[in-house]
Amino acid sequence: MTQEPHTIRFSNIGETLEVPVINQLMAIPLEKPGILSLAAGFTDNLALPVELTLDIISKLPETNPNNEFLQYGTTQGRPELRKRTADRLNSLVMEDDRAFAAEDIVVCNGSQQALFLATQTLCNPGDIVLVENPSYFVYLSMLQSLQVNPVGIPVDESGKMDFDAFAILLDQLKNESKLHKVKAAYLMGYHANPSSRCLSLEEKQGFASTLKKAGLIVPVIEDAAYRDLAFESMDPTPSIMSLRDYEAFPRLYLGTYTKPYATGLKIGYGCCSHKKWLEKILCAKGNQDFGTSNFSQAIIERALIDNRYEALTRELGSHYGKKAELLHEVLENAGIQNKGWHWDKPTGGLLFWMKAPESVNTDMGKAFCLECEKQGVIYVPGSFCFANQEPHNFIRLSIGALPDEKLVEASKRFCKVIHSL
Ligand SMILES: Cc1ncc(COP(=O)(O)O)c(C=O)c1O
Repeated sequence: MTQEPHTIRFSNIGETLEVPVINQLMAIPLEKPGILSLAAGFTDNLALPVELTLDIISKLPETNPNNEFLQYGTTQGRPELRKRTADRLNSLVMEDDRAFAAEDIVVCNGSQQALFLATQTLCNPGDIVLVENPSYFVYLSMLQSLQVNPVGIPVDESGKMDFDAFAILLDQLKNESKLHKVKAAYLMGYHANPSSRCLSLEEKQGFASTLKKAGLIVPVIEDAAYRDLAFESMDPTPSIMSLRDYEAFPRLYLGTYTKPYATGLKIGYGCCSHKKWLEKILCAKGNQDFGTSNFSQAIIERALIDNRYEALTRELGSHYGKKAELLHEVLENAGIQNKGWHWDKPTGGLLFWMKAPESVNTDMGKAFCLECEKQGVIYVPGSFCFANQEPHNFIRLSIGALPDEKLVEASKRFCKVIHSL
């Protein structure tokens, strides 16, 4: 590489950007062959819908005349895809049948882009976003890059939201004259990353009423990235788009077709209840890319029209259910619960959230993590997922990427480290 003669003067944001944890985690297995990754949130290559996708693509010239599927689309996304997306969500038994509308939807380069644009249009450096604790570590990293501060919503021992403690926290923010800095709340209603928990109806209602009592009517984002990846049946709780408790709040529901169809197509979406906020998101997206891959959208659109998406998600849900069962069995048979480790078997999604005894520090560079790397297995250290980077005795394992025999091998290596330290 040539040496640059001049130093570039970066913006404040550019200057403070750090390599996101996600980049580091996704690179490790490629750089170090032999390492098995229980860290990366990939889906299973063997379960990707290759035949279905090839079949759809081969028929696109018939189903979509004028080759428009290889042309630029629009900033907001394909009208038919938005309509099919809204219709599908409205048809779910737990949802109000008019909760989602095509004109409120923006199709994005994964739900990740919608999350970024939504946050960017709301927050200034120094602002606050309320997040679950633990929360999606890529979002925490994004907030850091925008110089926005995450504040964790308190939870009890079982991981449920603790509304008394939450009310006290909001009171504290008020006394410190920081309440006005809270610009949004970010929730994951279904098989959350990393906890794999679903928020119960009581939690969703309690959250809205605690905010209202504190006079805090701020935008609420519900990220439903893993909703369609339920192992058996979909969680029965309605989204915030259908709940009357949230009527006063600007709401953004984030969904994705990556995990439950194909991550490589990178199609996700946001459905926004607030006209002005949606307009701002669309302006930001227009400046950024003026439209998500029309080709990828056309594929998903056709899978929805032909009713093949629904069948695929059911298949994938049960596929990942079996993988979860496999990992759970290895962990149980290894007897690590007798060493003080605890986890709940997930009912959907791709993740196991595990609590180690407090004496075990799972952070990168610490003895436990180093020993795992030595044994050829990596995971996501739990502290990345907490708003204030602690506690240090949790880890996230992903069942997605590895084929069964490697998943078993990786989890055995992991249990071996637990027993050896
Ligand atoms: C909770 C959560 N939200 C959003 C995303 C982004 O997903 P995508 O951009 O693939 O739709 C992910 C990806 O892992 C996730 O775990």
